[in-house]
Amino acid sequence: MTGIWFIGAYGAVATTTLTGLAAIKKGAAPRVQAGIVTESPECDPIRSKFPLDDIKLGGTEVRFLDKNAFQASEKIWEENYHFQRHYLDAAKNELSKVYAKKGTAINCGPGVQALGNLQTLEADGLTLPEIVGQLMKDFESFKNKNGEVVMMNVASTEQHIPLSEEHQSLDAFEGLIDENKVEKVTASMLYAYAALKLKIPYGNFTPSHGATVPAIRELAIKNKVPHMGDDGKTGETLMKTTLAPMFKMRNLKILGWAGFNILGDDDGVTLSKDKNKESKIESKDKAISSSIGYSPFSITEIKYFPPLVDHKVAWDYISYRGFLGTKMALQFTWHGIDSILAAPIAIDIARCLLFAKSRGEFGAIHELAFFFKHPIDDIIGDTFKQYQIFTDWVHEGRKIELSKMQAKIITE
Ligand SMILES: NC(=O)c1ccc[n+]([C@@H]2O[C@H](COP(=O)([O-])OP(=O)(O)OC[C@H]3O[C@@H](n4cnc5c(N)ncnc54)[C@H](O)[C@@H]3O)[C@@H](O)[C@H]2O)c1
Repeated sequence: MTGIWFIGAYGAVATTTLTGLAAIKKGAAPRVQAGIVTESPECDPIRSKFPLDDIKLGGTEVRFLDKNAFQASEKIWEENYHFQRHYLDAAKNELSKVYAKKGTAINCGPGVQALGNLQTLEADGLTLPEIVGQLMKDFESFKNKNGEVVMMNVASTEQHIPLSEEHQSLDAFEGLIDENKVEKVTASMLYAYAALKLKIPYGNFTPSHGATVPAIRELAIKNKVPHMGDDGKTGETLMKTTLAPMFKMRNLKILGWAGFNILGDDDGVTLSKDKNKESKIESKDKAISSSIGYSPFSITEIKYFPPLVDHKVAWDYISYRGFLGTKMALQFTWHGIDSILAAPIAIDIARCLLFAKSRGEFGAIHELAFFFKHPIDDIIGDTFKQYQIFTDWVHEGRKIELSKMQAKIITE
């Protein structure tokens, strides 16, 4: 038996994943699901070891804590109609029994505050050591019931706070917690810390700090737990890191890449605030340079457009130079449904981290770069190379030589 614990359990990505998994278990959805990479024959070792119908579900939230996961999923579904209703009905029995636990929103930034009506442990008067203690209690109880479990952070994108000396070593970071230095930590750091303390692998589907902080990475090594991030690669960035290598292979020089994204729903609300948006733009921006080895002029814009709800539209304009210096352009419009793209990838990351743990691997699992916009330690962005690295890892357990696979960006 295995389990996935979602941070941000009642959001669009989490509820779509929860509904999909519960519907698959019930036999209402086809077992071999389009979009789940680990269901493809190339990933046989993973799909046979961690079957989809054997995954238990739980999570943490900071809103709608009076609702169960079915009611939360139904609410998101009614706003989007992003899949057929019968999947939700099939999931009802299981999801009605899942109630998210209360989490923390410390230093998540104005984008998360803008969601309104937050219910948090800090608002109940808990100090940092008490918050960590409560999170660990929730995670441990889930683990005790379900065997090997993994945490997926699919909460709203938080702001980045400046990292200082205290974030560089585990001892110093634990000092921050003990001394209740609230201004020095963010919620995602606390979730990652609590999970890794309990040897629960941690996947960061968001650009938030999570386990990327050196002190928390040290904990992952010390406790021999795998983790990976950051920020699921699902839509426009997947296109960027797939198209950009084509220009490189044909020796066409990309002069500039402008990407304009509009999206609705709560993710759009969060990303409409500059401090939260900055984390996302940074991770989207790096994707092109890490795919081609240089940084063309780049514009990445994200705007909140409520009528789209969970749909996302991106328009990209790529200016490039060819033979005899002639300038040309490529444009594309991407139209996706965010959570339908994201849910299967969240399942993939969770399964891969469980797989890594079962093979005794720990620390950042760089071979999973394929799934992320901004893979930890700046692994190259090129989707094709990443896929090769990933499948070699699945089949042969081949680990990459980090320095050879890091993106080297030439600045002209
Ligand atoms: N295709 C995609 O949808 C995609 C791709 C890559 C990354 N992401 C990232 O995944 C995350 C989730 O996206 P979404 O569309 O589901 O967003 P969403 O706004 O629908 O859901 C986020 C949920 O997290 C909850 N939350 C916020 N702060 C929290 C905290 N500190 N602790 C616990 N819960 C918290 C919110 O209440 C909300 O229910 C976002 O960070 C987004 O940027 C999404």
